[in-house]
This record gives sequence, C-alpha cells and structure tokens, in this order.
Amino acid sequence: MNIILLGPPGAGKGTQARKLVDERGMIQLSTGDMLRDAMASGSELGLKVAAIMNAGELVTDEIVIGLIEEKLNGDHGGGFIFDGFPRTLPQADALGALLEKHGATLDAVIEMQVDDDALVARITARSTCGNCGEVYNDLSKPIPADGKCANCGASEFKRRADDNEESLRTRLMEYYKKTSPLIGYYYARGDLRSVDGLAEIDEVAGAISAALG
Ligand code: AP5
Repeated sequence: MNIILLGPPGAGKGTQARKLVDERGMIQLSTGDMLRDAMASGSELGLKVAAIMNAGELVTDEIVIGLIEEKLNGDHGGGFIFDGFPRTLPQADALGALLEKHGATLDAVIEMQVDDDALVARITARSTCGNCGEVYNDLSKPIPADGKCANCGASEFKRRADDNEESLRTRLMEYYKKTSPLIGYYYARGDLRSVDGLAEIDEVAGAISAALG
C-alpha cells in the first residue's frame, strides 16, 4: 500500500507516519527529513537548500522529485508513506508517473485537517530525539521525566531552525498557495480521505487506520 499524508506544517504527518511504520512495516519517505539530513551532512545539496528551508519556503520541484525517485529505486517494503511530498501540482504529477514506472499505485491520500492557531502552538512546542527522530511536544507529548527518549533511550533533543513564528507564517502561506490545491486534485481522482488532525494523537491514528481499511 502506498499513501500520502497531506496537511499543513505541524498537522502531525511525521507523528502519524512513524506509527504507520511501526504498525504496518511501511517505509516513511519524508522529503523534509531527507533535506535536513543533507543540511546536517554539509553536502552541496544541504548548502543549497539551507537558507530556503530556514525561511520556510519550498525548495525546487526538481530537487525533491530527484530525492523521491532515488528512494523508489530501492526497497519497497510494506509500501511507502509519502510525508511532505508532493507539495505542488508538478510534484503530484511526477509522483504519479514514478509510481506507474515502478508498476505501483497510489492507494490513498490522507488529508489531516487542523486550524492555524493549533499549528502555531504545536510547532513552537516541538522537539525531536537527536538519535532516532521521535517527535515530542512540550504540551501534548512531553519528553519522559527521566530525560530519555521513550523510543531509543537517547538523551539529546533538537529543535528545528524553521520552528519559529516568522518561518511558520511563510510555511503556511506556501501551503495554502501551492499545496492545498492538491486536495482538489486527489479528491477528483477519488483518492482523498480526510481526518480530524485536532483529535488526540491515538485518535488520529485510529481514524487513519479506519480510512485505510
Ligand atoms: P517538512 O519537514 O515536511 O515540514 P512541514 O510540512 O512543515 O511539516 P512538519 O514536519 O513541520 O509537521 P508535521 O505535519 O510532520 O507534524 P509533526 O508530526 O512533527 O518540511 C520542512 C521544509 O522542507 C519545508 O518548509 C520546505 O522548505 C522543505 N520541503 C520539504 N518537502 C518539500 C517538498 N516536497 N517540496 C518543496 N520543499 C520541501 O507534529 C508537530 C508537533 O505537534 C509535534 O510536536 C507533535 O508531537 C505534535 N502533535 C502531532 N500530532 C498531534 C495531535 N494530534 N495533537 C497534539 N499534538 C500533536
């Protein structure tokens, strides 16, 4: 099964993707994580995208399509979760063509519905484990009291450079201008399933499971 998690910054795409990986053995393909890895490694790509990402703008279609194409040539495991990709209509067309080339199909697009006020609160309270990437939140999912990641036991946590109100405003504008048209695009194809992303994390997971069948 191949699915897309679609929603604005902070909607909970990464959180739910990790649950699907654990529960269904799927492979999470997060273009945001791939780009952050490139930045952390200091590669040419990382240097090219750092300023764009920190400002909250989208990197070029060409770059992210290339990253996804590379992954589709590898292990398909229990299917792919596209997290943060596609984000523009050209990216959506490219994904369709790439899946077709691999004899694969897109089974569902899960739209995670949330409101902007909740996003600001979530993003400014987010941290992630520096070792395994488990996502925490000061308000809804705090780091365990012993200061160790519940998933891997590491004790180093990071905050993202683009998790501030100014960058978030740009990220939201980019979402509404360039990504939200994908809701209609996938609705017209009969692939769209919408869930309430404002519910508790486990409730959202239940709604996604029900939508996937
Ligand atoms: P990316 O890394 O994809 O960031 P994003 O889309 O802005 O999404 P986030 O990772 O911020 O949020 P999320 O929905 O995963 O939420 P999370 O689960 O962490 O992209 C970053 C940048 O890379 C882009 O701005 C762009 O520059 C570039 N980029 C990436 N892909 C690109 C592409 N395809 N094209 C062009 N450029 C691209 O949850 C957020 C917080 O809320 C956490 O603290 C979590 O614990 C908490 N939380 C989650 N669910 C709930 C809940 N139900 N209730 C309460 N709290 C919750």
